[in-house]
This record gives sequence, C-alpha cells and structure tokens, in this order.
Amino acid sequence: METNYWDKKASDYDNHLKKSKNSYSKIIELIIKESNKAQTLLDIGTGTGEIPIALADSVEKIVATDFSQEMVNIANLKIERLHINNISFQVQDCYNLSFNDEMFDIIIVSNLLHLLDRPEQFLNSIKRLLKKNGKLIVPTFLHNESIKTKIISKIMEIKGHPINTRFDSKSLIKFISACGYNLEKSAFVEGIMPMLFVVVTKNDNS
Ligand SMILES: C[S@@+](CC[C@H](N)C(=O)[O-])C[C@H]1O[C@@H](n2cnc3c(N)ncnc32)[C@H](O)[C@@H]1O
Repeated sequence: METNYWDKKASDYDNHLKKSKNSYSKIIELIIKESNKAQTLLDIGTGTGEIPIALADSVEKIVATDFSQEMVNIANLKIERLHINNISFQVQDCYNLSFNDEMFDIIIVSNLLHLLDRPEQFLNSIKRLLKKNGKLIVPTFLHNESIKTKIISKIMEIKGHPINTRFDSKSLIKFISACGYNLEKSAFVEGIMPMLFVVVTKNDNS
C-alpha cells in the first residue's frame, strides 16, 4: 500500500473521522475498560492519533506508529497543543516495527487490518511485541457485513480507498484466531460502516 495515499488524506482525516464519531467514542470507551494506569500501549496505524490521545490519561505510556509522515506530523501538533507528554508518535511501517520483544501490555490495531495486503504476516509479526498476558485489540470495519456495507464498500473502492479484505463479524474472528490468538471478547459497534471490537490474547502454542 502506498504511503502517498495516506499522506494526501492526512489533512482531512479528522473531518473524515467525524462521520464515525459515535462508533469511535464507543471503541475508546471499550478500550479504556481493558486498560489500567500502569500499562504501556502500542497503537499501530494510528493515523492522526485520535485514539491514543483519548487514552492518554488512562495508561502510563503510549507509543503510536504510522507509515505516513503527514499523519504523524498532525498527531504531533495535537499533543503539543494539548500538552500531552506520555505519547510518542513514530513513523514506522507496520511490517517492520523496531521494538524489543514483550514491550507492550496492550497493542491496538484500529481499522488497519482490512487495508493490508499481508494481514496474516502482520498479525504473526506483532505477537513478539506483546507481553505474556498482553491484549491485542483490533476494532475493524466490517465491509462484508450486510448488503448496505457491501454497497458502501464498493463505492469507497471506486473512489480509490485501498480495501484489501472485506470482513464480516465471523470471518474477522476466524482470521485473527487462525493467526494464533485466543478470542477474549468481541462487541458489535453500530455505525454507517459497523465495526467489530475484538480483544484477543496470544495463543501459547503459536
Ligand atoms: C483507516 S486509517 C486508521 C487510523 C486510526 N487507527 C483510526 O482508527 O482512526 C489507516 C491508517 O493506517 C496507516 N497505514 C496503512 N498501511 C500501513 C502500514 N503498512 N504501516 C503503517 N501504517 C499504515 C495509514 O497511514 C492510516 O493512517
């Protein structure tokens, strides 16, 4: 996937998110329930940092990565303006993250999985970053959930949106589980394009 596409989207990304304001509020509420003040969290494919910024008071430290320099620039301006000092935004490709093993209590992958050309490789590669009882949280748009979402998805594709996998609730859980994770929790989040909020842990045998 081209960085260029997301660099061009960056300046309007927060306006775009407003269309899914209620779903994102719900996702953030659910993530907060999974977190505590002593934890270190990694957000991969953070965009303009809306999720980590909303979580800054709920955990100790956040590292948030995106391969788009423009997205990261906007995220950095926001934390500067808000005087938030426990988030570090970094430009990194999700397939090649430069962190030590077992660094994070929680990893968030919000609305990235369906965009990736190698989502299986990605999910396998980030397992090493999670602490033993750490949680991977994967809120993901369900482009294949209903006739309505399929039509919206097709229109998005025609407009150039880079969708690689069209998940429904069942196929998303099946896919993540097949990559060596155990399902802990899932919740359907209503919206123009609904999401499934998925919490998993590492499978001991993987
Ligand atoms: C749909 S946005 C989601 C942003 C944010 N997580 C959210 O839920 O609002 C997808 C983000 O993933 C980033 N992205 C796409 N492919 C990536 C890759 N290979 N490595 C890192 N970031 C990537 C894009 O730059 C974009 O900011």
